[in-house]
Amino acid sequence: MDLSRFPRRRYSAGPTPLDYLPRFTQALAALCPNGQGPRIWIKRDDMLGLFPGGNKTRKLEFLVADALAAGADTLVTCGAPQSNHCRITLAAAVKEGLKCRFVIEERVPNSFHEDASGNQFMFRLMGVEAITVVPGGSNVAQAMQQVVDELAAQGRKGYIVPGGGSNALGGLGYVACAQELQQQFFDQGVQIDRVVLCSGSSGTHGGLLAGFLGNRIQIPIVGIGVSRDPADQEPLVHREAQAVADLLGLDLVVPRESVLSVGGYWQPKYSVPNARMVEAVQLLARTEGILLDPVYTGKAMAGLIGLAREGFFKPDEKLLFLHTGGLPALNMYEREVLGQVDLPA
Ligand SMILES: Cc1ncc(COP(=O)(O)O)c(C=O)c1O
Repeated sequence: MDLSRFPRRRYSAGPTPLDYLPRFTQALAALCPNGQGPRIWIKRDDMLGLFPGGNKTRKLEFLVADALAAGADTLVTCGAPQSNHCRITLAAAVKEGLKCRFVIEERVPNSFHEDASGNQFMFRLMGVEAITVVPGGSNVAQAMQQVVDELAAQGRKGYIVPGGGSNALGGLGYVACAQELQQQFFDQGVQIDRVVLCSGSSGTHGGLLAGFLGNRIQIPIVGIGVSRDPADQEPLVHREAQAVADLLGLDLVVPRESVLSVGGYWQPKYSVPNARMVEAVQLLARTEGILLDPVYTGKAMAGLIGLAREGFFKPDEKLLFLHTGGLPALNMYEREVLGQVDLPA
């Protein structure tokens, strides 16, 4: 599939590593029925550019190219108080000589603090121009439009980057990732049976699915929901995958059954820690020296471990875990991930 007709900025030096995880695989097997579990590879999208990068880096390559083509001088986006997406969008804006403004939605009441560390510290360090804080459940799209209108009244031009960078254009970032993976599978002689990833605003899951379908890569994808159970998450991902396929002109209907997500690992609430996330973060850190984050990839890995424990995967099945980043949030939860706080399961 030819992506070259879509304008793209480049924020990463090259492909991210695709690595086998021997010690994690061994430790996971010990938790599985009869001591037999899947074999685990990891795609290190936590090592993307705009460091510490993550899945948003891929989406922003296309979204920022579009903003520049539209003559924008300011990126306007939204997210939760510790949003990786906002931080990486700001990094892209700084790199391009643009300004950046956020609408922050307090999904957990009173969770935004001007002087917090983690991503919020980096917002200040990289010089976000303005932050509007709105309560959870607000009309965030309207709030972003209001920011764009205020900029227009000053003779400036804002460009709205949707939440999580998840629209058809942003999803192209994960079509590019599908193509990168296809080449790596070939180069490394690896045949993967299934991909496990984190499914949130849906651009990663939907974009990768569209990329797999478009490139005839027949590897099923399991998305671990980080804020919704399947009844709400799957239609979202399905719409995103279809929108990406349409933008690509693929002339295909995304099969509904190709969208699979798993719930139950994000509770009690989006971004609120649980014990299974802690187990996952500790296990990968202590077997492979790889750091997950508590809000997204820790819960996604908890899903992979939980499914393996239930015998969902065939013994020796080859799984690829997509590490989508999120490192700066880890320090916000030091005591939790060290197991010093009682948490719900
Ligand atoms: C580290 C990390 N992983 C995964 C996700 C979820 O990806 P998506 O929003 O594309 O579903 C996010 C979203 O913010 C994220 O920051």
